[in-house]
Amino acid sequence: MSDAVSGTNPWALTPAQLDLQARARALAEDVIAPRAAEVDATEEYPWDNVAALNEAGFTGMTVPAELGGPGHSFLDAVLVVEQMAKVCGVTGRIAVEANMGAISAVLAYGTDEQRRLASDYVLSGDKPAICITEPDAGSSASMMTTRADRRGDRYVVNGKKHWITGGGVSKLHLIFARVFDQDGSELGIGGFLAIRDETPGLSYGRREPTMGLRGIPEMEVLFDDMEVGPDMVVMPPSGWRRGFADLMNAYNSQRVGAGTVALGLATGAYELALEFSKKREQFGRPIAEFQGLQWMLADMSTKLEAARSLTYRAACSRGTGPDGVASPFPDPALAAQAKIFTAEASIEVVSNALQTFGAAGYSRRNPLERMYRDVRMFTIGGGTAQILRTVVASRILGQKLPQTRDGYVR
Ligand code: FAD
Ligand code: COA
Repeated sequence: MSDAVSGTNPWALTPAQLDLQARARALAEDVIAPRAAEVDATEEYPWDNVAALNEAGFTGMTVPAELGGPGHSFLDAVLVVEQMAKVCGVTGRIAVEANMGAISAVLAYGTDEQRRLASDYVLSGDKPAICITEPDAGSSASMMTTRADRRGDRYVVNGKKHWITGGGVSKLHLIFARVFDQDGSELGIGGFLAIRDETPGLSYGRREPTMGLRGIPEMEVLFDDMEVGPDMVVMPPSGWRRGFADLMNAYNSQRVGAGTVALGLATGAYELALEFSKKREQFGRPIAEFQGLQWMLADMSTKLEAARSLTYRAACSRGTGPDGVASPFPDPALAAQAKIFTAEASIEVVSNALQTFGAAGYSRRNPLERMYRDVRMFTIGGGTAQILRTVVASRILGQKLPQTRDGYVR
């Protein structure tokens, strides 16, 4: 069945993309869906699903051919993520981070060795962790205090991140830190690579007990005199001073991916509601015959069509790089718009899909309850819906919008 209401191919996907989408749908339905409830209940990272994704070629999709990957586009990755998320939000998120996000930054900015290292990890199924958020720097990410002090050609990293998806299961980490020179002067913000069980000084604190998406740990990640050599420093192309902007630019791919997980979850919920509404009878007729429900279903499908179009468009877009030419990443404003709209629409759609089921939707026997908890996070993680509106406003007004009382203090 097509994901489009029209049943055609309104996004002009190529035959290869339609084939990719069909293969992803088959894997999702045959292998991932039957395990989704268990992943939620046990709260255990689904290594079996990771192996299945990896075997199907759905990790490391964006790695170029010269590094041993298939060189897929972000849209290709989005098509796969959407199918996984339709049946299991956790597996959708793994597919995002194994294809977009930290890997995008390393592929674009890393040295040949770093690109090879990161590619080998994702091509073997690793879902790299991206470490930005700190207890006192969430939305105000640029006010992070984790620091990397230069000692000769090495850096010593100290600080703490929290809410790091995959902390303790991911091997590769991309850590954002404030960089200081030997003499203590601040240079800017940079990216540092670290590897679980290999990089001394990298450890994990407590796991957050989350509302949904319970199969991936959300962890504190701690850096205690974590020493990294020059080979693990991801140098932003515009230099340390503008390192934060460069790293956030790469992060736009993950924002599109996050929106896609919400879209997939909501599409899955809508399809369940549609089927149920044709079977469930009240007053001697299927509930789909009541106009009140028909309009709910119509609104759900309308929101999903709009969200899908915006998400696919953002995936195909390109922003402007530091040198003024097209960057390898989605446009920041479109990525923000796609995530705001898709996350908010998806939360409404899943809520109304649950409503369609009546009491059955409220039961933990039913996947709607899990999907409702899972989808709720997408207006929060990866930039809140409020912060992303500020990103969009800054772009459309053509002006910087400092959020601190005193303007920019950096
Ligand atoms: P705060 O910044 O404290 O915001 C609190 C409220 O104030 C929000 O409603 C926010 O929108 C609002 N607010 C704040 N500033 C403004 C403003 N200027 N204008 C208007 N409203 C404002 N981080 C990582 O680095 N790596 C990860 O892998 C990762 N994974 C996550 C997974 C999950 C499930 C979740 C929930 C979070 C994850 N995060 C991760 C962290 C996430 O990015 C932050 O939660 C997010 O950036 C918001 O920060 P905060 O939670 O500290 O909220
Ligand atoms: N894409 C491209 N560039 C970006 C960007 C993005 N997503 N976010 C910020 N930048 C650039 C800005 O354009 C600015 O560049 P400029 O100096 O050329 O104008 C620079 O980075 C600094 O951004 P600014 O908006 O001035 O920073 P700020 O200190 O006011 O903070 C943010 C705002 C960027 C921190 C905030 O908008 C944000 O994104 N917070 C959420 C953090 C997040 O998503 N965490 C997810 C963790 S998983």
